[in-house]
Amino acid sequence: MADLPTGFWSGWIIVLTCVSLATLVWLIFSVYFAPSANEHPEAEPVWDNDLREGSNAPPLWWFWMLLAALVFSLIYLMLYPGLGSYKGLLNWSHGKRIVESYETYDTSFQEIRADIASKNLAEIQNDLDLMQAAERIFKRECSACHGPDARGQASLFPNLMDIDWQWGSSAEQIEQTIRGGRVANMLAWQSILGDENINQVADYVADMGDSAAADHPGQVIYQQNCVACHGVDGAGNPLLGAPNLADNIWLYGGDIETIKASIAAGRGGVMPAFNKRLDDAQIKLLVAMLAR
Ligand code: HEC
Ligand code: HEC
Repeated sequence: MADLPTGFWSGWIIVLTCVSLATLVWLIFSVYFAPSANEHPEAEPVWDNDLREGSNAPPLWWFWMLLAALVFSLIYLMLYPGLGSYKGLLNWSHGKRIVESYETYDTSFQEIRADIASKNLAEIQNDLDLMQAAERIFKRECSACHGPDARGQASLFPNLMDIDWQWGSSAEQIEQTIRGGRVANMLAWQSILGDENINQVADYVADMGDSAAADHPGQVIYQQNCVACHGVDGAGNPLLGAPNLADNIWLYGGDIETIKASIAAGRGGVMPAFNKRLDDAQIKLLVAMLAR
């Protein structure tokens, strides 16, 4: 009510409310204290000679009940917002109440936050309650993409439970990933390399780590174009988020067609930043859950 656009509408609501209440008072009193029909028998209709309409008021306790409700409304409207933009004597508002409840919410968690801040990762990992809390946060914030068991999904969102880490496996690197997000940038090679070269380098990449890769015709193309990010041996580079191509773990897929598609069209996975959405304690719990 406090943000009604103009004084006119606020005044209009005040008038309407007061007139309604006054009408109600009049109605109640007129029912109970009007001169009764018995005093003016001529005013009371009678049918079939003895069928009288009767105009007895409801029992008197109804009167007291209605009166009490009216008094309650008046007191309520004086204390709380309700009459147009009048804020009420208590100056109560929903907004204030929410702010207050956030404050009590924050203080009620201060102790456990301090507890988390004072522990190191190993201590957190050994605390069953904290790890369960971490899993709840993960389910709420991360599982939509990484899956409820953190094992990734849809060949788009990486498995966080395996040993392969695109952006690094240390607690610091994982924390950085969660706080700041990550944007992977692997350019599209189609126009640079052309079909033939892509087929060859894809074939080489698929074989990487096997003996078949030695003397592979795609090796030269790889060395000319790919080592800067993926490394000579294909081990990748966590600073760039360039994944290990020599292991058997693939984000987008390890069949030859998918590898070709990755190379030809490029890839740009985006992990959103959570530094604004989660507080330090929550991030620490997640790091403890993921870093092992
Ligand atoms: C909107 C989808 C989305 C959400 C939500 C999301 N992620 Fe991610 N995350 C990704 C994508 C996509 C990548 C892969 C980025 C890339 O291609 O390099 C990723 C990568 C990561 C990595 C790096 C993995 C590696 O191999 O280095 C970590 C760690 C991670 N996410 C943790 C989390 C945590 C913890 C949460 C919840 C707080 C979360 N993610 C929520 C999409 C998401
Ligand atoms: C500028 C650095 C850079 C260069 C150069 C580069 N890549 Fe990548 N590559 C990346 C990054 C970063 C990713 C991860 C993309 C993502 O997570 O969305 C990636 C992903 C891939 C993938 C997908 C891996 C998976 O797990 O599904 C393949 C395959 C690949 N690169 C092959 C190549 C080949 C072949 C070349 C050379 C022709 C090459 N890359 C050159 C940075 C690079």
